[in-house]
Amino acid sequence: MEDTGPPSGNGPPRPRIACVYDYFLGGKCNIDADRQAARAIAEAMPDLPDVLRANRAFVGRAVRALADAGIRQFLDLGSGLAVNGAVHEITADMGVDARVVCVDNDPVVTAYNRRRVPRRGVAVVHADLRDLDAVLSAPESALLDRTRPVAVLMTAVLHFVPHADDPAAVVARYRDALAPGSCIVLSHAEDNRRLPGTYQAARLYSKDIAPIHLRTRTEIAAMLAGLDLLAPGLVPIPDWRPDAGARPSTAPSYGFAAVGRTDRQR
Ligand SMILES: C[S@@+](CC[C@H](N)C(=O)[O-])C[C@H]1O[C@@H](n2cnc3c(N)ncnc32)[C@H](O)[C@@H]1O
Repeated sequence: MEDTGPPSGNGPPRPRIACVYDYFLGGKCNIDADRQAARAIAEAMPDLPDVLRANRAFVGRAVRALADAGIRQFLDLGSGLAVNGAVHEITADMGVDARVVCVDNDPVVTAYNRRRVPRRGVAVVHADLRDLDAVLSAPESALLDRTRPVAVLMTAVLHFVPHADDPAAVVARYRDALAPGSCIVLSHAEDNRRLPGTYQAARLYSKDIAPIHLRTRTEIAAMLAGLDLLAPGLVPIPDWRPDAGARPSTAPSYGFAAVGRTDRQR
């Protein structure tokens, strides 16, 4: 039977990153604790639901662009719940036979995903993305043929990695571990003094859900070192190859997105 209810763990209910995100995306995989936290944050930052929908839409555009370019393997780090436009859903909609590994460090999220994803072509790993060896040596990661290019998604997740853990070094380790022609898909929340609502939202987020670390465009760009950025480069999230006919966004983006490719000749 398909599992459509919200994920649940042991212990008192508490808001989870993935389920708060699901609430903002209009999903059903959330409980009262998620909704209450989400509403409080959205009060401080009314643009937040649009920002998160724009991020999810970027994931869709990036995966479609890479699948169109021939990529058939995806490593989704900080996948969140594999619903509402998850990578395997995007490739299935395209009729592309892809292999997808979803990695998350929230045990409730990975348990939920394990019950829900199709058995063929999708695997779920419970690991912290900072631990490259744990991710790549997990038995489920054997689904990926690492002699061939892999698209590594790190979308809306590196802002949960503290500065002390050097997220640029984390990205570099994946860049260097994968076959030439592999890609990194990245989106990240912005530290921008012109958007003061972000700081209040980030404070609430850190207090009620998980510590969040905003970064400047320069800091985000540093995470893409050594990659050839696909056009249009590192841009506000809605501006990464917007769909034909999409209205140009006038609202601030609150974050940046890019897709970079490792050198084919390495
Ligand atoms: C906001 S969701 C993003 C979902 C998806 N990547 C997207 O962009 O649509 C972030 C997810 O990253 C997970 N996460 C946070 N820190 C992580 C870490 N260090 N390792 C693995 N997953 C992490 C959270 O549990 C959550 O499910």
